[in-house]
Amino acid sequence: MTVLVLGASGTTGSRLARQLIEHDIPVRRAGRSPSADVRFDWTDPVTFAPAVREVHAVYLVAPLGVADPEPIMTPFLVEAQRAGVQRVALLSSSAIPVGGIGARLADFVPGWTILRPTWFATNFTGDHLHARSARAEGEIVSATEDGRVPFIDPDDIAAVARHVLTGLEAPRRDLVLTGPEPLTFDDVAAELTTHTGRDVRHRRISVTDLSARLQQDGIPAPFADLLAGMDAAIAQGAEDRTTSVVEEITGRPPRSFRSFLTR
Ligand SMILES: NC(=O)c1ccc[n+]([C@@H]2O[C@H](COP(=O)([O-])OP(=O)(O)OC[C@H]3O[C@@H](n4cnc5c(N)ncnc54)[C@H](OP(=O)(O)O)[C@@H]3O)[C@@H](O)[C@H]2O)c1
Repeated sequence: MTVLVLGASGTTGSRLARQLIEHDIPVRRAGRSPSADVRFDWTDPVTFAPAVREVHAVYLVAPLGVADPEPIMTPFLVEAQRAGVQRVALLSSSAIPVGGIGARLADFVPGWTILRPTWFATNFTGDHLHARSARAEGEIVSATEDGRVPFIDPDDIAAVARHVLTGLEAPRRDLVLTGPEPLTFDDVAAELTTHTGRDVRHRRISVTDLSARLQQDGIPAPFADLLAGMDAAIAQGAEDRTTSVVEEITGRPPRSFRSFLTR
């Protein structure tokens, strides 16, 4: 019944691993750090077979910053199929078009799910650019204008992943995961002001200026353009909706941005 968690040191993988352990489900944490249970590196295919050996289910976090992950992920899925893996939950995004490797998961495993979360609430905490600029300059900077996003608590993504990987049946469909209410970046700035006790405002910039800002922060130009374009999509309303999927799958409603900040 072992669940292999890729990206186990990351935002969602670490939460999923913790939740599985809390439910007494055997976990194998994969990654490149010495603290991982098994070494796993997308750039090193010899690490694939040992990672999936005697594994029932896999939480699949794609290689980061790769425009087309399919050529890298296909050999991994071949190994997973060979090892008899029964379930896969692929972490995708509501902002990524349906298709690609996700559309081929059923070729490799009988029980598959594609998780399509909206933007993470954690993007405003820790070392993320928004959090750093909120701390250093008292502002979050975006090209989202008045666009709204139903930010999701990554603990809720992990809870859905645990259910679909270990429950009676895999959904065999795409699940769009959202928090309970769409917020503008002005709303987020107001919440950050309330919760940190210091003024945080939302500064609106153009898509071009946002891409330049992201590149100054070390993000390669093509990926910076992609991310800035996602802000433009938010401005046009692409993320302005909620779904009931977290509650349908876990039996409890998703947590709000406010309760996330409070915790
Ligand atoms: N942030 C958002 O708002 C948002 C919204 C929707 C979807 N997403 C999606 O979330 C995904 C990222 O997931 P996350 O936030 O849970 O992870 P994360 O916090 O970004 O951490 C990345 C993980 O990937 C692992 N990793 C990086 N390079 C690797 C490599 N070469 N081989 C093996 N593992 C590697 C890292 O592990 P080690 O360094 O330990 O190996 C780490 O655990 C992205 O695909 C993104 O599209 C994000």
